[in-house]
Amino acid sequence: MTLAEARKRHAHLAGEIRRHDRAYYLLAKPVIGDAEYDRQHRELADLEALFPELATPDSPTQRVGGAPMEGFAPVTHRVPMMSLDNTYSSEEVREFAARVQKALPETRLAWTIEPKIDGVAVSLRYERGVFVLGATRGDGAKGDDITANLRTIRNLPLRLVAPHAASDLFGGDGMGIPGVLELRGEVYMPNATFRRLNEERTGAGEEAFVNPRNATAGSLKQLDPKVTAGRRLSVVVYGLGEVVGAEPPATQSALLPWLQSFGLPVPERLWTARSTEEILEAIAALDAARKHFGYETDGAVIKLDPIALRNQLGVTAKAPRWAVAYKYAPEQAETRLRAITIQVGRTGALTPVAELEPVFVSGSTVGRATLHNEDEIRRKDIRVGDTVVVEKAGEVIPAVVRVVPEKRPADTRQFLFPRHCPECNTPVARENTADGEGVVWRCGNPDCPARIRGRLEHWCSRGAMDIEGGGEALVAQLVGAGLVRDVADLYRLKPEELMGLERMGEKSARNFLDGIDASRGRDLWRLLFGLGILHVGAGVAKALARAFPSLDELADATVDRLVLVGDIGEAIARSVESWFREPDNRRLIERLRAAGLTFTSSTFRPEDAVAAGPLAGKTVVLTGTLPTLTREQATALVERAGGKVGSGVSKKTHCVVAGADAGSKLAKAQSLGITVIDEAGLLGLVGDGA
Ligand code: IVH
Repeated sequence: MTLAEARKRHAHLAGEIRRHDRAYYLLAKPVIGDAEYDRQHRELADLEALFPELATPDSPTQRVGGAPMEGFAPVTHRVPMMSLDNTYSSEEVREFAARVQKALPETRLAWTIEPKIDGVAVSLRYERGVFVLGATRGDGAKGDDITANLRTIRNLPLRLVAPHAASDLFGGDGMGIPGVLELRGEVYMPNATFRRLNEERTGAGEEAFVNPRNATAGSLKQLDPKVTAGRRLSVVVYGLGEVVGAEPPATQSALLPWLQSFGLPVPERLWTARSTEEILEAIAALDAARKHFGYETDGAVIKLDPIALRNQLGVTAKAPRWAVAYKYAPEQAETRLRAITIQVGRTGALTPVAELEPVFVSGSTVGRATLHNEDEIRRKDIRVGDTVVVEKAGEVIPAVVRVVPEKRPADTRQFLFPRHCPECNTPVARENTADGEGVVWRCGNPDCPARIRGRLEHWCSRGAMDIEGGGEALVAQLVGAGLVRDVADLYRLKPEELMGLERMGEKSARNFLDGIDASRGRDLWRLLFGLGILHVGAGVAKALARAFPSLDELADATVDRLVLVGDIGEAIARSVESWFREPDNRRLIERLRAAGLTFTSSTFRPEDAVAAGPLAGKTVVLTGTLPTLTREQATALVERAGGKVGSGVSKKTHCVVAGADAGSKLAKAQSLGITVIDEAGLLGLVGDGA
């Protein structure tokens, strides 16, 4: 294929993918299936591998193409990013409207009311229709350059479409797009994504995020855009920064459809009002509507509709005078904190749990709430016996918001976080939380009964091996009776052993054993997830099982090979590699193999396979001094090619790389008839002829 042909095909594919992105993310009306969409993406990536000059910044392949960064570069905002003053009552809204009317006497005011999306404010800059720069607000004058992370957001167009094309979805010639269009908007995490992410995180032995906003902020702060890409964030734009080469609409109510005509996502509803009473009605209407939005909104933003009037009002130090936020009170309830218990998870993390007098809030009864970690308890000074305010974060996880100090009984004491594992009494060690803002205490004893139980429960859980009956109660009995210590032991359980347990009849014993038996045939990803490898949640496990034909191939994969799997970043790859390098884990794998579990992947897809390096599964021995490579460099080359460097020569050695002054290893290789090569031979072998 010539470059010209490739260019033509590339333009066609890129146009198709953009069209499908808009159909999917903006209109929620996909016109092709995932498989065809993936195929187009792959073809595009293949073309760019052959012709790298086609990989322009607005190519659909560039969403996750970014390499990890060292840090974020500062960005000075051309137009300062302001915040909003808050109001909390109708009274305050009336005062605001009256203030504006006073400043603009004899003007019939018009207002817009939009949802206030609870996420992270961003500035997005498009030059000649191409997304070139995205930044956080920072202090309002200067923020962080998070362009690479923002690119991963699927509903953020990397290139604007010409206004007439956004509606019919076909083509676009760039006409009518401003030379510079800087936008203000909010990045957020939809509630469903938030729930899935937290399930995935707890399944992978990681901490859950407190709410969707924290999850969004944490995701945008990632130095590796691949991690951000996996978080499935969304964006919405509601305002303008710098604009050059176009006359934007004169009102907010016309601005949003104008932005939408470029293919940009805008707030899903907008109300207009011509009086204070109408503003209050819109606030109430939005409050009813937002329950169905699928993402968190914490208020309404009331803006003066005509932009020209805004300029007459101006701004204060931090916020405009022409707009205000009305914050909805989150649904909260008061209840008494009966006790703080400590849960020890399978990773050894100690999680404090609030045991509450049951109380009804946001549609369900809450009896327990997570207190996250020690700092959280200290920061909020939560004490047993306190009356606390609880609410649901992201509509699911109940949280303790604060204590009610007036209702504190006289005899309460500060909660002392245990310094020993409540389960096995091992001293606990402190570790920083993933967001770096708190500490987790961990029990480092791998034989801690709580950790053993946690691993077994995880293995049996519905999302993993799905072994019916293998819940908390039975697992505790099995471990307590000394019948089971790890997951491989499950496969040797005998009916009579089970029957000896309390409340275990013949039928339940049979059912449990049948469940265990059935688990031998489960998909490989379930087994992988069930192993409880740090950072390997169900989603990661599925990606691995698609990319590797068998557990054995995965077990031998190096970090360099693992990171080639889509959605797998370096932290995950390292965790997987080091798990399989652990001799105890290897022994466990062998016992599972002997127990007849399925090690081949039925979900393997050759198109997702990541090629093994030329030295995959092979051991190379280095001896003597090489002419140009240091020992570390040579080792790195071998490992990058999928091989291992061995210390001694044996029949299993693939080859020996010999340099100057090679000694006994060379002699041994010769006596065993093992291939001996020099540095040039090694470079050829690893495909690095340079
Ligand atoms: S307008 C100069 N509209 O709320 C006025 N802000 O508390 C800029 N927000 O910094 C803000 N949804 O991060 C505006 N529809 C919306 C919004 C919105 C969410 C956020 C934004 C802003 C913060 C102010």
